[in-house]
Amino acid sequence: MAIRNVVQVGDDVLRQKCFPVENFDEKLWTLLEDMKDTVKKEQGAGLAAPQVGVLRRVVVVDVDEGYFEFINPVITKQSGGQNGWEGCLSVRGKSGIVERPMRVSLSYQDRNGEKHELNAKGFFARAICHELDHLDGVLYIDRASHIEKA
Ligand code: CO
Repeated sequence: MAIRNVVQVGDDVLRQKCFPVENFDEKLWTLLEDMKDTVKKEQGAGLAAPQVGVLRRVVVVDVDEGYFEFINPVITKQSGGQNGWEGCLSVRGKSGIVERPMRVSLSYQDRNGEKHELNAKGFFARAICHELDHLDGVLYIDRASHIEKA
């Protein structure tokens, strides 16, 4: 277990498309443990693997509903809309207003490769959308209608 350095905007690694996870092995579990330590220490709502320099489709989300690990996640359904503030551990000192779906359905694998489905709404849905964007090299600042110094 270890805190990993969070890559900052401007680094090309944040703009890459991540590869699917194929091996659900100890290397993945170490990455997940480190991402958990890092997101808790930084008090983020989530963290995606490229933010710690790993180009794999892995995110963690830490919200009121609980702490989640999503491997190879895909949004299968979305509905409604919401506007709200977002920040990002890779864009320090700023926050912005972003439009996101109000509800999403997510299909994903857990750390053992088992498949699951999950429904999320409100801020939980927002956090999922934000983290999944990271896996395709998209940052919230690309989508924000308004950005301020936090
Ligand atoms: Co982010």
